[in-house]
Amino acid sequence: MLIHISDTPEELAERAAALLLETLSAGGGGAVSIALSGGSTPKAMYELLAAAPDAGPVLAQGEFFFGDERSVPNDHADSNVRLAREGFLGPLEVPGERIHAVDGGADDLAEEAARYGEAIRAALPAGQGGVPVFDLIFLGMGEDGHTASLFPGTKALGESEEICVANDVPQLDTRRLTLTFPVLNAARHRVVLCAGQGKAEVLRDIFRRKNRGGEPVFPIEHLEEENLLWMLDRAAASEIPVAALQKYAK
Ligand code: 6PG
Repeated sequence: MLIHISDTPEELAERAAALLLETLSAGGGGAVSIALSGGSTPKAMYELLAAAPDAGPVLAQGEFFFGDERSVPNDHADSNVRLAREGFLGPLEVPGERIHAVDGGADDLAEEAARYGEAIRAALPAGQGGVPVFDLIFLGMGEDGHTASLFPGTKALGESEEICVANDVPQLDTRRLTLTFPVLNAARHRVVLCAGQGKAEVLRDIFRRKNRGGEPVFPIEHLEEENLLWMLDRAAASEIPVAALQKYAK
């Protein structure tokens, strides 16, 4: 597990975009499976990708999936699929067959979750226990320590079989479609993108526990630490204990 700290959110976005392009370029010409995160943090990264010279051919090697989606149609302003499509997949004309959207507007979200899970299983190689293996999963973190749509106290946290579920999130009075920990933790690489002072307190608590030991408190602490990269800006990292920075920051 590593921490990388950028001075500003802009630099974080630049480095995240560069990491995506490097990962795709290292694919040796074969398809590289990527799960994209949602929320506001990735927006700047997506816009940089759209403006990157020669990014189109590199991105065309990707198979793009989504780590979670709100219970809205893909053309809704709150849709994570729309965020990525408008941010860079559309502008760079990534072929439609490379974009594997999950439909938050489906009438039956549980059925859509099962469909999406099967589509992922069909597209990716199976790893341990038959769990499909993504090459790279981008994730965010909420101020409550959620990641994807794995929110504190919700049923999906304990899901050990299904790789995608419809998760009731009472604290938001909504349902979300989300990948679950088995598939998040089976990925070859996990990258958490966090920016802003609002994330500092949770990151402080998380890295205190990682340094001193202690049972996980926040959902995101259930991410497998191997091949986990925390890409933070200085504000988000501002309260991480020095000992943890010495141990994990590169
Ligand atoms: C979503 C995301 C969610 C997000 C975090 C951080 O659908 O909102 O998948 O997990 O990554 O809530 O969101 P911000 O980037 O807006 O802080």
